[in-house]
Amino acid sequence: MEVLGLDIGGSGIKGALIDVTTGTLVSDRFRLPTPEEAKPDDVAEVVGKVVKHFGYKGVLGAGFPAVVHHGVAYSAANIHESWIGKDVSALFSKATGCKSYVLNDADAAGMAEMQFGAGRKYKHGVVAMLTIGTGIGSAIFIDGHLFPNTEFGHIEIRGKDAERRASDAARERKKWTWEEWAMRFQEVLSTYEKLFSPDVFIIGGGTSKYFREYELFLRTRAEIIPAQMLNQAGLVGAAVYAYRSNALLKSARGPKKTD
Ligand code: BGC
Repeated sequence: MEVLGLDIGGSGIKGALIDVTTGTLVSDRFRLPTPEEAKPDDVAEVVGKVVKHFGYKGVLGAGFPAVVHHGVAYSAANIHESWIGKDVSALFSKATGCKSYVLNDADAAGMAEMQFGAGRKYKHGVVAMLTIGTGIGSAIFIDGHLFPNTEFGHIEIRGKDAERRASDAARERKKWTWEEWAMRFQEVLSTYEKLFSPDVFIIGGGTSKYFREYELFLRTRAEIIPAQMLNQAGLVGAAVYAYRSNALLKSARGPKKTD
């Protein structure tokens, strides 16, 4: 079964067709730049173009960088503030003609890692997946079940959001070496560990491919492992989410009446 997965990021809007049973891409990844300011109608227009590129007609899933509750955005840290209160699912459905299921981007990436990647063997206990990019995204799994919209990037550490202290954007902005960045990130991890005691941290997002450069500088009681699906996790997770949500909706409606 193939479903289109989208990942709405601060700099790019990406899409790919996903085989939701294997968690693999069955098309190339197509990317267009996120419009300046990332306002709702402009983003929806680009989403429409990405979907058109694939000539796709089915249901689609999209990971979105905000708190997303039943398709509606309730925060806007790295996107335009006019998203707050917007029904993102309805907006994307209208722009694409495809029924759209939207969830938080880190939750999407976490779902993919738990099913097909680094989290596969952690079906019991607490897994904290962190995506390090423009912000810090989080996805928490308790015995394999997602606790959505946790927003660990906005936990304050010494008066400042964790993501302001140790995102990848902060590392680039300050031109830190991996060791210098890891010192800041260690403080973030220690804070999370003190508050939530996970069994394992999965480090995802753009920094995951450099894990070997900084793993030596990090220490927590919990295991720390890199994500495995690199920049595909968000797309795969969004597609799987759409597939499951649509199936649930259909089963809730029951079988079609024939008479
Ligand atoms: C947002 C989260 C998002 C994360 C990663 C944060 O600034 O608040 O919703 O998951 O960035 O994109």
